[in-house]
Amino acid sequence: MVPALFVLAAAAPASLPIPAPILTTPQARDTLSFAQPETARVTHVDLDLTADFATQRLSGTATLDILAKPGADRIVLDDDGLVIARITDTDGRALPYTVGASVAEKGAPLTVRIGAARRIVVTYTSAPKASALQWLPPALTAGKSKPFLFSQGEPTNNRSWIPTQDSPGIRQSWSAHITVPASMMAVMSANRLTPEGEPAGKGEKRFAFNMPHAVPPYLIALAVGDLAFKPLGPTTGIYAEPATLARAAAELDDTQKMVAAASALYGPYRWGRYDILMLPPSFPYGGMENPTLTFATPTILTGDKSNVDVIAHELAHSWSGNLVTNATWSDVWLNEGFTTYFENRIDEAVYGKERAATLADLSWDNLQRDLKGAGGPDAPSTRLHGDPNGTYGELDYNKGATFLRTIEYRVGRAKWDAYLRSYFDRHAFQPQTTAGFLADLRANLIHGDVALEKDLQLDRWAYQPGLPDNAVHVRSATLAAIDTKLAAFDAGAPATSLDRSKWSTQEWLRFLNGLPRKQSPARLAEMDSAWGLSRSPSAYIGFAWFSLAISNHYDPVVPALDHYLHTIGRGLFVFPLYRGLMAQGPWGQPIARRIFATARATYHPTVAAALDSIITKPS
Ligand code: BES
Ligand code: ZN
Repeated sequence: MVPALFVLAAAAPASLPIPAPILTTPQARDTLSFAQPETARVTHVDLDLTADFATQRLSGTATLDILAKPGADRIVLDDDGLVIARITDTDGRALPYTVGASVAEKGAPLTVRIGAARRIVVTYTSAPKASALQWLPPALTAGKSKPFLFSQGEPTNNRSWIPTQDSPGIRQSWSAHITVPASMMAVMSANRLTPEGEPAGKGEKRFAFNMPHAVPPYLIALAVGDLAFKPLGPTTGIYAEPATLARAAAELDDTQKMVAAASALYGPYRWGRYDILMLPPSFPYGGMENPTLTFATPTILTGDKSNVDVIAHELAHSWSGNLVTNATWSDVWLNEGFTTYFENRIDEAVYGKERAATLADLSWDNLQRDLKGAGGPDAPSTRLHGDPNGTYGELDYNKGATFLRTIEYRVGRAKWDAYLRSYFDRHAFQPQTTAGFLADLRANLIHGDVALEKDLQLDRWAYQPGLPDNAVHVRSATLAAIDTKLAAFDAGAPATSLDRSKWSTQEWLRFLNGLPRKQSPARLAEMDSAWGLSRSPSAYIGFAWFSLAISNHYDPVVPALDHYLHTIGRGLFVFPLYRGLMAQGPWGQPIARRIFATARATYHPTVAAALDSIITKPS
């Protein structure tokens, strides 16, 4: 079927680029957006914004190019708290608009009566509480002297600072000019046209950006701060605060190799440069795959490259996610499960089979833990395709990756890799649904092979809860050796007898997470004094240690835990720690509330809002 808007595009004036198609199947309906792209859709966004740190607002204009059905006289955009001054056509004639009722997680529909206009200008500012934006005071940066701003768009936050159709199936090219204080640098997830910025008067600088490819709007990202750049290879490099730059560059110096390995696996890297922006520790994710510029947490800087799998992951999204994009948030496993599989293939190519097996085995542990946590194999939240707010825990990631690995083992790597490579080519710059992926597998890999179809259990994997019985579990010798040490320790061996000087993050996690949850205060004190866990510079080790301590109501860790929760804002760590405290009734709840009262101001708005509901939950 030819999508309707493709047909329209052919009739558009020759000067307009042909916009990316949208999917018009029922499964591609995005319930988290108000847009009605069949009637009118945005094809290009041009931003001209000034960052004002004093008022914590971005202000300026968004100019939108619109492709509309003949006769269509309105367009519906997504808006979450924007302060709109006016909307006009390009001759400055006012266009009437209305903002509808606001809905949680979604914001409000912004309906503009465009008449015959096909380019409109929205003059607006973002609200200081915009959910995508964190405005950091100098104290929360590494340099402690200048403020910092960053955005996090995925999944539905960008509508709090960009008035557009914020749906992953509606791809838009974009460009931007960003004006900032002259002592700061602005970077965005696009070609950076003026690396040094240009003087803009009044002690300001203006930076220009251009993304020629149509991308889903959740991938538009901005950061402003005291930033410096260091190249890592010919097409790779790192942006960070000056105080963090050298350490980050040393940790991530395999990045260029990763790009080469990824391209060798699944086809050319199509985005030009691959740079990494190292953010302050309040960044809510391990990483975010913003095109040309992965945003990353500094918690991966452990000095031993133990956690560069996070970079392999974000890089892999340059194919799975950014090139072929989940059509709706119910299909997010197509982004995260594919990427978790692909990430492991990059790890294998760069660091070898055993390292990749260690990471895959640990991800199997997480999968088992999540299946239990969700309430068992029949829990609906363990389905890959389903709730647009995602599956339980990290099941999108680890169940999704296990699904693809299971196909790989059944059909063989050569055939599977050839298929995946062609899949990315055939669907490049397009949205994809779960149903669309299964149809593609059947048409291009299975070819009616009845035995293969039966063995794979595709529909069971995609639509049913739990784990099908053909799931492949990769085992690691490195982690098996840890299990032996764990058994000896659990049988009473003293903490000082354990040689753990060369352990990677993953070995520590297997050990600490594998310990029986019930430990005596004496044994906990022994571990902390022998291994310095409370003072660990690794956020990963700290996390696993605090989790164990919390389940034992172990008071001596509370000051260190308090410090940890005031300095790190990565959701993967802070959500389970607060949830763990809240689950410990009268012991843990007052601790959680006391820490959160002052730590809240250090978190990204989306993390703070999610914690509000964890902390206020009636016990
Ligand atoms: N795209 C995700 C982050 C995300 C997912 C943001 C869903 C909003 C909604 C990113 O690629 C990611 O998965 N980050 C992980 C790291 C990864 C190595 C598991 C994280 O934050 O821990
Ligand atoms: Zn991801």
